Amino acid sequence: MEHQLAEIRATALSAIQSADSIDILEEIRIQYLGRKGSLTLILRSLGNIPAERRASIGKLSNQYKNEIESGLEDKKNELSKTIGSDLLRKQLIDVTLDSESATERENLGRLHPISQIQYEIEDIFTSMGFEILDGPEVETDYYNFEALNMPRHHPARDMQDTFWTEDGNLLRTHTSAIQIRGMEKVSPPFRIVGPGRVFRYESTDASHENTFYQVEGMMVDREITVAHLIFVMKQLLKEIFQRDVAVRLRPGYFPFVEPGFELDIHCLICDGAGCSVCKQSGWVELLPCGLVHPNVLRMGGINPEEWSGFAFGLGLNRLVMMKYGINDIRHFLSGDIRFLKQF
Ligand code: PHE
Repeated sequence: MEHQLAEIRATALSAIQSADSIDILEEIRIQYLGRKGSLTLILRSLGNIPAERRASIGKLSNQYKNEIESGLEDKKNELSKTIGSDLLRKQLIDVTLDSESATERENLGRLHPISQIQYEIEDIFTSMGFEILDGPEVETDYYNFEALNMPRHHPARDMQDTFWTEDGNLLRTHTSAIQIRGMEKVSPPFRIVGPGRVFRYESTDASHENTFYQVEGMMVDREITVAHLIFVMKQLLKEIFQRDVAVRLRPGYFPFVEPGFELDIHCLICDGAGCSVCKQSGWVELLPCGLVHPNVLRMGGINPEEWSGFAFGLGLNRLVMMKYGINDIRHFLSGDIRFLKQF
């Protein structure tokens, strides 16, 4: 009997030792200590054993039972510890690690190409001593038209139809409103630029959108001439395109400048051969500009006898199109991730 008990103890303990899962431990427990387990059966049959040996066999059986039970318990603790740390190792995410996966990198957010060029232009103008100003997208009639020498019923308003709010305000048609707001804030001499989103009631095609972006610029000082204007514009284009760009000036009419010009650049998409963006002309209208009209200076509280200035309104969409060879302005607001991912 002692021999049988010792055998049960030894096989049970070695099975426990080599168990590699909690399920197996449970099987072992049932095999030895369950209702029909081999040790249980011996303990139950103690009554049949002759009285003089019963006490010692009973003691031994209980001792082995305790040993097996604590062996099971220890092994269970050991296993749950390693299982836990394995699980932890598998699930651990080190958020400080750079992603290894190319697709994750691809899906990182980035600045819209319009924002990129806007910041670039802000840098260029800041380096030339310009200050950056802002203005609201919903404007009053006064800032968008009236103070820019376009009183009610002025025919030039027709060129800039827009969306009106019920209380008589409008979605600004150009950033030129920032000229007036600027003159209210700073006094001459000054140089300001005002980037922003503008709106027109417009049918869309490859080169027209109802929502687009401009950067307004204005410099007021003593004896400002067209030469200053041309120099600053050429400097800007050279910085943006990193090369000399052919430009031409045509007379252009805007009520708030006199003289007024359209500054065109040689089409960089077709290199002047003619395409849908330049309407087959080889030139792209990029920069309306001119010398600030005396009435506008007066509206801004500046004496035109003493001060003069130039102003321009740079179209950002078209500039980005020229820079990257984009042939349809509607891509910008399409929200097409395949387009946006390229910048
Ligand atoms: N605001 C004009 C437009 O959007 C452009 C412009 C700005 C022209 C400044 C002259 C001077 O069409």
